[in-house]
Amino acid sequence: RHVAIVMDGNGRWATARGLPRTDGHRRGVEALVDVVHGALEIGLEHLTLYAFSTENWKRPADELQTLMYEIPQVVHRLVTEKVDVRVRWAGTPSRLPADVVERLLDAERETRDHTGLTLTMCVNYGGRAEITAAAAKLAQEAVAGRVDPGSLSEHAFARCLHVPELPDVDLLVRTGGDQRTSNFLPWQATYAELLFLDTPWPAVDRRTLWDAMEQYARRTRRYGSVARIPAQASPLSGRGAPTT
Ligand code: IPE
Ligand code: IPE
Ligand code: MG
Repeated sequence: RHVAIVMDGNGRWATARGLPRTDGHRRGVEALVDVVHGALEIGLEHLTLYAFSTENWKRPADELQTLMYEIPQVVHRLVTEKVDVRVRWAGTPSRLPADVVERLLDAERETRDHTGLTLTMCVNYGGRAEITAAAAKLAQEAVAGRVDPGSLSEHAFARCLHVPELPDVDLLVRTGGDQRTSNFLPWQATYAELLFLDTPWPAVDRRTLWDAMEQYARRTRRYGSVARIPAQASPLSGRGAPTT
């Protein structure tokens, strides 16, 4: 149902080719569009993409400029392509240029009746910031007497996250060779299957998504329970037991 991707490795892909890192981001946009089409083709319900983290403000100015141009641009492109994609934005407006915020909100508005793929773009997103903001909102509600802190459920907490209806992540993929989650969806991905790929993001296309989903299909999710084993004679059965 829900694949989330840390689109990493743009800079290293470019550097390895003697190109500026910003070229990696531009090529990454093409990968993004192809993966979105692949998700539509395979009938995925939710695709969540990490495009810009709250930590990424530490990048050099030219890189920030490219990202703040390319991210709203690709969102706009998906909206104008008239594909059945509902765009959502997870992140905070603080520090984002006003036109970027506008583009993201416009895309949410313009695609809100689409029922195919839900594409959640994580832009200026930080997982801890998301959880902290939810806690602050609930604390205010409690002070106002609208929420009873003694009976707060996980479900009620999740309603205060950036995109409340985002389901749990089934498969979390990170491209680019690093094996960490970098503050991505800590609430939603607690039980996600993790898949780390060496492929840098600009070299990814829809087949990478399909391969990843195939690998996911071969995994066994236990959620703290025990694996269901195929029906077979137990090695204990019959030992000393009367046969009837
Ligand atoms: C991911 O690629 C894109 C963003 C973080 C915005 P990077 O730019 O992090 O590429 P590497 O990891 O340096 O290769
Ligand atoms: C994670 O990649 C953020 C995005 C892909 C948007 P980074 O490249 O910023 O992650 P770290 O800093 O290497 O962990
Ligand atoms: Mg990186």
